[in-house]
Amino acid sequence: MKKQILGLVVVALCLGSLNSKAQSKAIDGSILAPTPPMGWMTWNYFADNINEKDIREMADAMVSSGMLKAGYDHVFIDDGWQGGRDKRNNIIADPVKFPSGIKALADYVHSKGLKLGIYSDAAPLTCAGYTASLNFEEQDAKTFASWDVDYLKYDYCGAPDDMEIAKTRYKKIADALRKSGRDIALGICEWGDRKPWLWAGQVGGQLWRTTADVRDKWKNTKPVKTRGELHSGGAGILDIVDYSQDYASSAGPGHWNDLDMLVVGLYGKEGPSGALGGVGCNDIEYQSQMSLWCIMNSPLAATNDVRNMNAETKRILLNEEAIALNQDALGKQAVCKIKNENWSVFVRPLANGDHAIAILNRAGTTQNAKINFAELGLNGEYEIRDLWQHKGIGKGKKWNGKVLSHETKLFRLKKV
Ligand code: GLA
Repeated sequence: MKKQILGLVVVALCLGSLNSKAQSKAIDGSILAPTPPMGWMTWNYFADNINEKDIREMADAMVSSGMLKAGYDHVFIDDGWQGGRDKRNNIIADPVKFPSGIKALADYVHSKGLKLGIYSDAAPLTCAGYTASLNFEEQDAKTFASWDVDYLKYDYCGAPDDMEIAKTRYKKIADALRKSGRDIALGICEWGDRKPWLWAGQVGGQLWRTTADVRDKWKNTKPVKTRGELHSGGAGILDIVDYSQDYASSAGPGHWNDLDMLVVGLYGKEGPSGALGGVGCNDIEYQSQMSLWCIMNSPLAATNDVRNMNAETKRILLNEEAIALNQDALGKQAVCKIKNENWSVFVRPLANGDHAIAILNRAGTTQNAKINFAELGLNGEYEIRDLWQHKGIGKGKKWNGKVLSHETKLFRLKKV
C-alpha cells in the first residue's frame, strides 16, 4: 500500500515537472507576457509581400478601428522582411521593402501606442527562404533590441527533427534575447511537433504553437488521424481545437499554448491561409474561432485587412467581453469537459470567481443543447450572461437552447 502511494506521488511529481512553466522574466522581475499577446500579424494577408507603407497603414487602422483599444497592441511582422547581412554580418531589412528601416517602423508603431514583433528562424534560412538566425543568435538579438523590437516569432523550418536540438536552439535565442537588455517576448513556432508544451516555457519561450499552420477552413474533410496529417491536409479551426485541448495544464501567465493566427474576416482570401483547402468560413464559424481562442487562452493575432473590415468582422474581433476571458489575470486555459461527435463543452475559472463556458455544436445541423452545469463541475445556481448577445439571460443550474451548426455559445456564469 505504502509503495503504491509512493508510486502515485512520483508519477504526480513527474507530470508536474513535465509541464512547461515560464522561466524567463522581464527585466524588472515581472512576468513577461502575463496575459496572451494580442495584435495583428502580416502573414495571412500579405504573405512575404510586405513593406513599410502597408504596415504603417495597418498600424493606423489598428488605432482608428478600435483594435488597439480592444487590446490588440502588437503589429507582428512575419516572414519576408529580411534583406540578408551586411559586411559585419548584422542582419538587415530588405532596403526596397523597408527603405526607412525597422527602427523607424518601431518608432512609428510605438508612437501610436503599439508594439512591434519581428520574425526569424532557428536555421540558416526561414520557411520562405529568407536570412535567419542560426549561429547569429546573440548578434541578431542585439540588433532586434537596438531596433526596439518587443517580440520575436522564431520558426523552425530547415532545422533538425530532434527534440533535444530544438530545445537547445530555442534556449540559445531565449538566452540571447535576455542578454540583449530589452524585454523581447519569444514565440516558439515548431508546430507542436516536438511537444513544446512540455519544455518551451522552461527554455525561455512565452508561447508556443501547438499545431501546423491554420488554414481558413472549419475542418479537414478527411478525418485527421495523426499530427503529421495536419501539415499535409491543412489545419482547420476545429482540428486545431481538438489537437490543442489536451495541453491546458501547461498554459498560464507567461507561458501560453498558441493556437495560431485568427482567420476571422479572411473569407477564403488567396494566400497562406487559403492553401490546403482554405476556402473560407462563414461568420458563425469565425465567431466560434474567436470564442474558442478566447476561452482557451490562445494569443490573438488577427490577420485580416484591418483597413477594410465589414461589420461582422468588427463585431467578432472587437468583442471585449470575449477578450476579457482571454486576458483574464488567472490565465487558466479552459478544459474540455464534454466531447462527442456533436458537442464540445469547455469550462474555465476566472480571476473574480466567475466561470466561463463555451458550448460548441460540432454537427452539420442546428441542435438543442441541454447542459447541466453540475456536469461541468459547477454545482449550485448561476446567473448566466451571454457574451455574444451582451446581456444576462436568466439564472439557473442548467442551460437549454438552440445552437446553430458550428456555432459556439459563450457564457459567463456568476454563482448566486
Ligand atoms: C511557417 C509558420 C507560419 C509563417 C510562415 C512564414 O509556416 O508556421 O506561421 O510564419 O512559416 O514563412
